Amino acid sequence: MKAIIPAAGMGTRFLPVTKSQPKEMLPVVDKPVIQYVVEEAVAGGADDILIVTGRGKRAIEDHFDRSVELEDLLERSGNTTKLREVRNISDIADVFYVRQKRPRGLGHAVLCGAPFTSSDEPFYVMLGDVLVPTQDCLPLLKSVQERYGGSVIAVVQVPPEMVSRYGVIAGREVEPGVWEVNDLVEKPPVNEAPSSLAIFGRYLLSPKIMEILPKIEPGRGNEIQLTDALKELLKHEEVYAVAMECSGYDTGNVLSWLEANVALTLDTEEYGPALRDLLEKMLGMEG
Ligand code: G1P
Repeated sequence: MKAIIPAAGMGTRFLPVTKSQPKEMLPVVDKPVIQYVVEEAVAGGADDILIVTGRGKRAIEDHFDRSVELEDLLERSGNTTKLREVRNISDIADVFYVRQKRPRGLGHAVLCGAPFTSSDEPFYVMLGDVLVPTQDCLPLLKSVQERYGGSVIAVVQVPPEMVSRYGVIAGREVEPGVWEVNDLVEKPPVNEAPSSLAIFGRYLLSPKIMEILPKIEPGRGNEIQLTDALKELLKHEEVYAVAMECSGYDTGNVLSWLEANVALTLDTEEYGPALRDLLEKMLGMEG
């Protein structure tokens, strides 16, 4: 399987920290977000991974490359655990890169990956700033695709006041938690949202989308939207949506990034207990 990871967005919600570093390199516990995404792709059976980068995103390429000087230093100081960890990053998968030369939207970023995909195989699209710690989203997309065919999108139920932050779908529920999609709207105002099922950054797409994307006009935010291309795809093929069973974090959003850090750190043996104490103390003091 192939996976395209769009990581070209400017990260404006996280300025100023994203002024000169990619939002995908923000740390969650001790790893950059994009490493979680690549690890999830590999766990989900993707062996070829394409990251769509852009201006100011070189740190991503460096992260998945060997770092000979650092490895030498760790070797000389006998820090074998960190040495293994650092080496593993560059061995995770075959990672390829393409640059989106202008920020023209998610749909355009996916289209930059067209030469990487094949015309008869579905491929994953995984947003580079969305973290799914449980890694069970891709297998879910795959199992729905095997049963129903077409393309499959992961969705989450969000409170109505949050729909305007997401792409929203409407559909007919064909089994609990699976919808045959009949409409999609990118970031609708609350009163125009067809449901509160929000697209959550994981897709398994039919190659037909690559024929459609070049014809899509700029939409919401004057950007070429993947959501608009999926709406067009509905005229040719079926699209399904499946409710994610696990929690995911949109780490391009400050609060959600903080939540990811707290939740994942609490889960570690190394820092979990100390962070719990710290939080209890801080919140106790507040009260
Ligand atoms: C993108 C998609 C949107 C989706 C969201 C999920 O928007 O366009 O449909 O709901 O990711 O995080 P962005 O957050 O990149 O503006």
